[in-house]
Amino acid sequence: MALESLLMVWILTSSEAFLLRGPAGPLVAQLGGSVLLPCSAETPLPLEELEVEWRRTDSEALVHLFQEGEVRPESQSYDYSGRAHFLTEGFAAGNYSLLLTNVTRADGRDYICKVFTNLDSNEITAEIKDIERLVVTGTGVASAYVGDEVTLNCSVDSHIPPGELDNVTWKRKDQEMLVLVFRYDQIVPVSAHELYRDRADLFTAEIPKGNFSLRLKHVRPEDKGEYVCEAHSGHLSASTIIVLQGLGPPPVLILALVLCVIALLLALGLGVPSCIHLVSNGKDRIYTQYHSGHFEGTFLVTPF
Ligand SMILES: *[C@@H]1O[C@H](CO)[C@@H](O)[C@H](O)[C@H]1NC(C)=O
Ligand SMILES: *[C@@H]1O[C@H](CO)[C@@H](O)[C@H](O)[C@H]1NC(C)=O
Ligand SMILES: *[C@@H]1O[C@H](CO)[C@@H](O)[C@H](O)[C@H]1NC(C)=O
Ligand SMILES: *[C@@H]1O[C@H](CO)[C@@H](O)[C@H](O)[C@H]1NC(C)=O
Ligand SMILES: *[C@@H]1O[C@H](CO)[C@@H](O)[C@H](O)[C@H]1NC(C)=O
Repeated sequence: MALESLLMVWILTSSEAFLLRGPAGPLVAQLGGSVLLPCSAETPLPLEELEVEWRRTDSEALVHLFQEGEVRPESQSYDYSGRAHFLTEGFAAGNYSLLLTNVTRADGRDYICKVFTNLDSNEITAEIKDIERLVVTGTGVASAYVGDEVTLNCSVDSHIPPGELDNVTWKRKDQEMLVLVFRYDQIVPVSAHELYRDRADLFTAEIPKGNFSLRLKHVRPEDKGEYVCEAHSGHLSASTIIVLQGLGPPPVLILALVLCVIALLLALGLGVPSCIHLVSNGKDRIYTQYHSGHFEGTFLVTPF
């Protein structure tokens, strides 16, 4: 009788491998974020004979390993070093899930969780299907002269097509002012502050490439400041700051003024009318000839 029941227990444990549970469906991770790859046993398995191995299915790369009662980071593939973690208290609870941090684009693939005991083994697969990303980058600083047009660079890199983003917004950081709002695949005109309404635009043809650079026309001295380019989509959002600096009169105008002073010194009273002429033309970056009784020559006013 005793022998019979022992045999019964042996048959049950050896023929019925332990059950493993994986994710219910494909997983979604955020670029730079972390994702949990579920893998757990119905009942905790004895630690002394437990081995848990996480691998990629497309290569033999070892993502993480638990063996002989210990986590073995030294056998991990370089790509996952410091990024793959078992859960503290996980092994005792039969929870062999893997926490993958600092998610990269290359992490979007299939993984396999293999669990071994002395008698049995089982495995499940987990797929990271989508790597969600919303990354906004800009060039940090831009400068312009009063009256000119300036481009403030902003690029939106996302798995979401630009037209399907909730919105992309340009605003003044220092003054809480909306400069431009892009929503439903178009610029929303009324939402911008009146100071910018007719002066701010995007490069429409560049939007499909994620180029949301701001084109600001007829720059004014008060445009100087910090601009935020911000993109929103569902729970994701990202932004960058661009500083518009160096607003002043165009250098050609300054150069023209300097030349005027020289001209004045040379020609005194005689040069004054030509001088005014020189300043107004210098603005348009053209040649201006200066004639007087004392001096004859050409000033080349070069734009820079
Ligand atoms: C993960 O990202 C954080 C913050 O961005 C960084 O401090 C850390 O060094 C990164 N870890 C690895 C292993 O790349
Ligand atoms: C395993 O642990 C993680 C993190 O604590 C938890 O989210 C998950 O639900 C656990 N799995 C099971 C089957 O208990
Ligand atoms: C804007 O971006 C383009 C392309 O990356 C670059 O060539 C250009 O120099 C940038 N403009 C500024 C003002 O940084
Ligand atoms: C965006 O497009 C404009 C116009 O073609 C260009 O001047 C600018 O450099 C582009 N910016 C980036 C970041 O590609
Ligand atoms: C942009 O979308 C976010 C949510 O996705 C919302 O909170 C925000 O108010 C929107 N901004 C504008 C200017 O519409």
